[in-house]
Amino acid sequence: SKVGTSLPVTSVQALVASAGELTVDKIGRYIQPDIDAHAVLPELSDEVPVIDLSKLLSAESAEAEIAKLRFACAEWGFFQVVNHGIPDEVIMGIKQDIQNFFRLPLEVKNEYAQRLGDLQGYGQVFVVSDDQKLEWGDRFALFIEPPQARDMSYWPSQPHTFRNCIEQYSSEVMKFTRSLAILIAKTLDVDPELVGDKHASQFLRMNYYPPCTSTPEKVLGLSPHSDGSFLTILLEVNSVQGLQIRRHGAWIPVKPHCDALLVNVGDLLEIMTNGKYKSIEHRVTINPHKERLSISAFQIPNYDGIISPMLETAEQKILYKTMKVGEYLRLYFSNKLEGKRALDYAKLSEI
Ligand code: OGA
Ligand code: NI
Repeated sequence: SKVGTSLPVTSVQALVASAGELTVDKIGRYIQPDIDAHAVLPELSDEVPVIDLSKLLSAESAEAEIAKLRFACAEWGFFQVVNHGIPDEVIMGIKQDIQNFFRLPLEVKNEYAQRLGDLQGYGQVFVVSDDQKLEWGDRFALFIEPPQARDMSYWPSQPHTFRNCIEQYSSEVMKFTRSLAILIAKTLDVDPELVGDKHASQFLRMNYYPPCTSTPEKVLGLSPHSDGSFLTILLEVNSVQGLQIRRHGAWIPVKPHCDALLVNVGDLLEIMTNGKYKSIEHRVTINPHKERLSISAFQIPNYDGIISPMLETAEQKILYKTMKVGEYLRLYFSNKLEGKRALDYAKLSEI
């Protein structure tokens, strides 16, 4: 089948809003028969590392904070960043407009509906076949960087401030990622030049997860997956908990932190570090009563670039293939979300 194909499906939000009870024949395609029932350990959510970017950037505290960042990347793959430097009004603006966009009538949102074979627009992600289970959520996605990747026919004219908010938020996240990538290079003792072009592209995905009153424990907003990015920067739009990360075989809920950005290591950073920093599986669970909204910024290298492991010593064993970035992403987007399957393909077979 066509690479990156997304088959059109109904909006989950519209399904939930439709009159009548949500019977199994209405939502059967969303019921997941085998949700991983491994232990969920809420008590560990307080341990997700919190990194202070202002400390990383100030001479007296930088060294200790770099050590924390190295630990967060190597041992967690997920961390909150406070004092991230993105102005409050930019964060407030994008949060407001994302909420307002998803409140628009279905026919208005459908003016920006994902077209067959495209990853952008309003619709659902990772719909690759007619018989797969579907995820309990609607998305609105855009390629933002590089500028020539933009398809303005998907840029909404409602809410009227939305385009401007998207541009401002995007450019702040680009700046933030640039600083963070240089600091990550420091944690690895490598030349920052080596990571300079590894986050030059940006794909934004706004996520709307409606509540599921009837069977919240049988649906997932996003199935377990790792991200096909270099780094992903997540902003929780409305502080409803739902994200869980996999750690030592259990699921740990991540508490929304209203002043922070949540950052995670993507598959491409795992490849670059030859597995030292791992992209961690995560999933989104659904609340029985409350809707949840978030925005993910996937920071990706130039598509025509190459991704390959950087070795610390000549004797080190190479664990991942050298691949074209575009080749990896095509592979990633042509599979339904399934743990770290795309990354398995990049692993050298003898390991
Ligand atoms: C993603 C993702 C988590 C969330 O978009 O890849 O994992 O909380 N999102 O929406
Ligand atoms: Ni993700």
